[in-house]
Amino acid sequence: MPLDLGAKGSCHIGGNVSTNAGGLRLLRYGSLRGTVLGLEVVLADGRVLDCLAKLRKDNTGYDLKQLFIGSEGTLGVVTAVSILCPRKPKSVNVAFLGCSSFQKLLETFQICRGMLGEILSAFEFLDAPCMNLVEQHLKLSNPITESPFYIVIETAGSNAAHDEEKLHNFLDKVMTSSLVTDGTVATEETKIKALWSIRERITEALRYDGFTYKYDISLPLEKIYDLVTDMRQHLGSRAKNVVGYGHLGDGNVHLNITSPSKDPDLLAAIEPYVYEWTSRWQGSVSAEHGLGLKKRNYIYYSKARPAVGLMADVKAMLDPKGILNPYKTLPDH
Ligand code: LAC
Ligand code: ZN
Repeated sequence: MPLDLGAKGSCHIGGNVSTNAGGLRLLRYGSLRGTVLGLEVVLADGRVLDCLAKLRKDNTGYDLKQLFIGSEGTLGVVTAVSILCPRKPKSVNVAFLGCSSFQKLLETFQICRGMLGEILSAFEFLDAPCMNLVEQHLKLSNPITESPFYIVIETAGSNAAHDEEKLHNFLDKVMTSSLVTDGTVATEETKIKALWSIRERITEALRYDGFTYKYDISLPLEKIYDLVTDMRQHLGSRAKNVVGYGHLGDGNVHLNITSPSKDPDLLAAIEPYVYEWTSRWQGSVSAEHGLGLKKRNYIYYSKARPAVGLMADVKAMLDPKGILNPYKTLPDH
């Protein structure tokens, strides 16, 4: 399955497709916009649209399925999916590494892309406050020495000896040049799962920490953590925790802010500050989670008015009575 994500135990594929969920392996397999080959969709008037093709190539007219991928159920209900599945990799390795600065983490990513190339299947990161939260609330243990930043790198390939040699050459390079300060590698499934848990269960740990304000932002790589640092400074003691983690390889950061309880003053300090910040760097205010109810009125920070106008036209054509997932995705006016 080309999509993998922390919610795999409870989410549904129709919902994944409707939100165009990115997950942990987008870096390797691309987004659902590329891997979904066909869809069956029920339209607002009850018609069943059969676009359930299995072809890799099909340029016969408009690619209608794309309308429903990422439209959050506002244009139709996805009832069947045909998806391109890669071969299950024969050899998988996971490295969990520590970095002393975000700059070093970015340099590690560049070297990683160059040296691991085609076997790289994930490059994820978390900061020290995220690690504290999973340790504190989920009783997971940090497998390496404490660091300001952590990286999860996964390789997936067809030849264990070749993959391990590549991974070890890479680790040798980043450790001797002091880009990475400590690390551990897993090849065995139980240990791989344990390392992945630390990254996958951050959202769960945040829930135990308090009321969480969540932002799912795309930014140029060199700006990605400045947003977290700036926000931390901007909020000062008003926030309980300001954390950053996410899909570094895809330029996507999850900025999450916790508070002992729902706090309108805190929210007013975060928004629209976070959206203005994102817009200044031509980022996206919803990288992979969709706009839903809470973010829909901020669409203009990332999309031009004519584009949003055309979205409204498409919505009016496909769902004239507004019965499909009402009050979601599109802004009020
Ligand atoms: C994650 C979810 C929050 O990346 O998208 O863990
Ligand atoms: Zn995510």
